[in-house]
Amino acid sequence: MGHEPVLSLQKVCAYYGNLCAVRDVSLEINPGETVCIIGPNGAGKTTLLKSVSRVIPKVEGAIRYRGASTAGVAPQALVAHGLIHVPEGRQIFPSMTVEENIEIGAFAVPGGVRKDKTDAAMDMFPKLRERRRQLAGTLSGGEQQMLAMARALMGQPHLLMLDEPSMGLAPKVVSEIYRQVDLLRGRGVTILLVEQNARIALRNSDRTVVMASGEIRHQGKSADLLAGGLIASLVFGK
Ligand SMILES: Nc1ncnc2c1ncn2[C@@H]1O[C@H](COP(=O)(O)OP(=O)(O)OP(=O)(O)O)[C@@H](O)[C@H]1O
Ligand SMILES: [Mg+2]
Repeated sequence: MGHEPVLSLQKVCAYYGNLCAVRDVSLEINPGETVCIIGPNGAGKTTLLKSVSRVIPKVEGAIRYRGASTAGVAPQALVAHGLIHVPEGRQIFPSMTVEENIEIGAFAVPGGVRKDKTDAAMDMFPKLRERRRQLAGTLSGGEQQMLAMARALMGQPHLLMLDEPSMGLAPKVVSEIYRQVDLLRGRGVTILLVEQNARIALRNSDRTVVMASGEIRHQGKSADLLAGGLIASLVFGK
């Protein structure tokens, strides 16, 4: 007990109709580890995260979260147990304020602590505090990403899944996002990250998994891959 993986996937396949988007993926993530998935467009990275959070229906194979099978478990029940997914494209509520968006992230948290948590979330990203009454749809792309993360953190993540948090953002904003990721790693949050930028991925994770055409093609310690220049050949074909 206590040493079991936070997440374990065994021969996981995921389908959209007849299309197999994830094939035979086996992967374990240990407590406190940050694992990053990289790979080309359409590789199945997002589908893998959606399989874990059970937001797509057709998933085969075994997925265990904190030792228990998630088969047939509702996505909201997983959120309540600390499995938090920040989806690709952020998906904030544009016509609600920054503050309201953050509060929504705490729907699974008892009322009394909600206010403290909202404050703590805004401490992480002071920009959000300045803009708390602004409609989320009018935030810049980087601010929207910060908001999506702040909202996710309201759910007290035990396993945090981030799908391309740096997408479309200026380098400065990317650094700010990853500074927060770093703080979370320091606090022992287990993280499963999808990142299109291989360099960022390798620098911000313990282990990196390379996917292509729905399958795992390679995995290893990020530091080793960074040193070996292996990623360039695998991902960019150079
Ligand atoms: N809702 C869907 N219905 C049908 N096919 C889908 C659906 N979502 C994804 N796919 C297909 O599944 C495959 C994997 O898609 P996925 O979004 O998981 O890739 P990805 O690795 O996240 O790519 P990207 O880097 O572009 O985000 C693709 O071929 C895609 O077209
Ligand atoms: Mg994707």
